[in-house]
Amino acid sequence: MAFWSTSSVPFLGLLSLLLLLLHHSATAAAARNPDDSPLSFREAPEFRNGETCFSAVNTTIHVAMTLDANYLRGTMAAVLSILQHSTCPENVVFHFLLVRHESEVLSSIKSTFPYLNFKIYRFNTTRVRGLISKSIRQALDQPLNYARIYLADILPPEVNRLIYLDSDLVMVDDISKLWSVDLKEKVLGAPEYCHANFTNYFSDEFWSDPVLSKTFQGRNPCYFNTGVMVVDVEKWRKGNYTQKVENWMAIQKQRRIYHLGSLPPFLLVLAGNIEPVDHRWNQHGLGGDNIEGKCRNLHPGPISLLHWSGKGKPWLRLDSRKPCNVDHLWAPYDLYRSSKHSFEE
Ligand SMILES: *[C@@H]1O[C@H](CO)[C@@H](O)[C@H](O)[C@H]1NC(C)=O
Ligand SMILES: *[C@@H]1O[C@H](CO)[C@@H](O)[C@H](O)[C@H]1NC(C)=O
Ligand SMILES: *[C@@H]1O[C@H](CO)[C@@H](O)[C@H](O)[C@H]1NC(C)=O
Ligand SMILES: *[C@@H]1O[C@H](CO)[C@@H](O)[C@H](O)[C@H]1NC(C)=O
Repeated sequence: MAFWSTSSVPFLGLLSLLLLLLHHSATAAAARNPDDSPLSFREAPEFRNGETCFSAVNTTIHVAMTLDANYLRGTMAAVLSILQHSTCPENVVFHFLLVRHESEVLSSIKSTFPYLNFKIYRFNTTRVRGLISKSIRQALDQPLNYARIYLADILPPEVNRLIYLDSDLVMVDDISKLWSVDLKEKVLGAPEYCHANFTNYFSDEFWSDPVLSKTFQGRNPCYFNTGVMVVDVEKWRKGNYTQKVENWMAIQKQRRIYHLGSLPPFLLVLAGNIEPVDHRWNQHGLGGDNIEGKCRNLHPGPISLLHWSGKGKPWLRLDSRKPCNVDHLWAPYDLYRSSKHSFEE
């Protein structure tokens, strides 16, 4: 997989080649029963720091992700992709948030990545549960989906910067490049999409209210995807951003001002006020829309991170033998091994 680790300039040419190469083997894969259990994964190799890496504490890269059985296969692929493309993989610390203690999930992580530097945190859903409103897609309403709002409270105080990542993505570039983006005075960095029609993220109820509709006054609000964020945790804590996001969720609970889940309250608080990061760091929407999960093609331009946001997930589509072309780019990071083909207990 050495060709992945070159950075992504000649990427599109390689990509089409890869699509051709991978198409063949992946279509031949047997469909798997999603109920196959226990979850069984191959052990990932040990990834060691290159010679140019400092071991100083200040070089630590903090990555926060959620962890649950439904998305475990995605999490494993994401972690593998990050380590594999990192020059200093031993500098990466993973902070996993989970709702309940699932010993199977934890032992899977340990046995798949025996050398991984990670910490586990319990996300107590009591606080957020009362704030969650029904969205257009049930999967978006899971309390764990809202954990990203509480990272600053949950992670230890010495973590003052973090990269939050969804579990349905793979990184194909060195994470240290994303880590070192200059956030200037901003609390959050993410790719911005200013051509997206912002109106549609909020309801008529919102836009027709004389007070609420002034929320974005004096800002140039743009859509950003909350699945890949660089966060200045210190600024987040000092600015009470958790509370600010919660306040909008409380309003949503009483008056329906938007249709999606955890994204709109982030937009309400931060859109137009973030540090834009290069688009290569979130090639999102590969899972299609929120209703049908249709196949999507890659947008033009260099790519450092592929993100299957939307309804379709690559592991499900590959298993169903109806993969989209882009799913073959995820497959090389899949560590799952069906129990049918495993001789272990
Ligand atoms: C990390 O600390 C070392 C030693 O104190 C220093 O030389 C280096 O410049 C620091 N690196 C960063 C990125 O701050
Ligand atoms: C979660 O938080 C609530 C309220 O603070 C508390 O009553 C409950 O015991 C907590 N649950 C667990 C499992 O820690
Ligand atoms: C955005 O969408 C709204 C409602 O669908 C429409 O009225 C408006 O003209 C659109 N704005 C732009 C700039 O396309
Ligand atoms: C954050 O909240 C604390 C306690 O509620 C308050 O003292 C402080 O002034 C707030 N800071 C900001 C920037 O809103």
